[in-house]
Amino acid sequence: MIRVHVDHLTPGMVLARPIPVPSHPGRYLLQRGQEIPLNLVPRLKRWGIYEVWIQYPQLEFLEQLFDPELEEQQRELYHRVRCNFQRSMESTGAALDWQGFEEAVTSLNEALQRNKFSAMLQKLQAYDSYLMAHSTNVCYLSMLLGKQLEGYLIQQREWKDPREAKNLRHLGLGLLLHDLGKVRLDPKVLNKPGKLTPEEMEYVRQHPVLGYEMVRGHVPPATAVVVLHHHQRWDGRGYPRRQDPASGEWLPPLKERQIPVFARIATVVDVFDAATTHRCYSAAKPPIRVLHEMRTWCQGMFDPVIEQAFYRIIPPFPIGKVVQLSNGMEAVVVDFNPEEPYRPKVQILRTEQGHRVANPSLNEMDLAIYQDLFIQRVDDQDVTPYYPEAFWHSTPRPEYVSA
Ligand SMILES: [Fe+2]
Ligand SMILES: [Fe+2]
Repeated sequence: MIRVHVDHLTPGMVLARPIPVPSHPGRYLLQRGQEIPLNLVPRLKRWGIYEVWIQYPQLEFLEQLFDPELEEQQRELYHRVRCNFQRSMESTGAALDWQGFEEAVTSLNEALQRNKFSAMLQKLQAYDSYLMAHSTNVCYLSMLLGKQLEGYLIQQREWKDPREAKNLRHLGLGLLLHDLGKVRLDPKVLNKPGKLTPEEMEYVRQHPVLGYEMVRGHVPPATAVVVLHHHQRWDGRGYPRRQDPASGEWLPPLKERQIPVFARIATVVDVFDAATTHRCYSAAKPPIRVLHEMRTWCQGMFDPVIEQAFYRIIPPFPIGKVVQLSNGMEAVVVDFNPEEPYRPKVQILRTEQGHRVANPSLNEMDLAIYQDLFIQRVDDQDVTPYYPEAFWHSTPRPEYVSA
């Protein structure tokens, strides 16, 4: 099976994985083995589905990379967030099901701990609300990242018992609720298709404090500070501004290790997920491009230890993606290598001359070995400008990519 962008679907393509209905866990719009009617594409897009899995001979083994239990927990969590946030939007006084949130995060964390994969291979599949899908995705992503950072968490939270210091449930709960304050804001401003005015920006920037006020006293303090500080940057930029409650004077911003470590993790996963998800004002960017922007535009924003760990869990080229290599061959990405994220294993689908390869599994190439080759195009887009500078130390740089 391969991933296909919904805009590239052609008649006769058959689903390799089912498409769930976002509002009903356990219900499916289409089952595996069904042909996808092209008139469904607008509905798929409304549900945040921009890629689907299509059957492809000899590539069924990719199915093993998915953990159905993890998928189910993600959907369950989404459903819970959806019901709760909705209620809270409709009435300011509505009580949130704090215990339900904790239970759902605990189940997702347990599924994650049992899962043998340590990279981000599966996001929530279908959703009908950006805010709630984003909350679910960053909850999962933060715990996945936290799992890689256990030693660092113990060191950074030294006043805690080590077992408690690396407890990821409080982190995940923080991410699940990090944007809760947005339910108190005017959806017209939040979902505005264009650029926000400075006044609107200031208005939206209230959400961490609003959220903090909503969660305080209901969740552990380590969770509440994630809500308050998830927009605080490592170098001191960001918000909210701090004020002395007694004198009303402005205080210097929190920076570096003064920022709680869970909030530092939140900043990284929040920026990444927002940019890789389709929004009302911007299309989803491919992960390789977002990783590039994080390394360049976002310099100084992230804790360097957390940032480096993050790059080891995010495949720049998602597994199952059809790509074009620098020698003109068409290939499918079949593995992720955290040591060399930009050099995954691929299987050749078409030769340089465009002839279809009968058995791709007999034509597997580890790009970590073939260092003169690289992935050049994804979804008809040239991705070479997005490689990290260090990549070109061992691979010939095409002339048009500036040094
Ligand atoms: Fe936020
Ligand atoms: Fe966010």
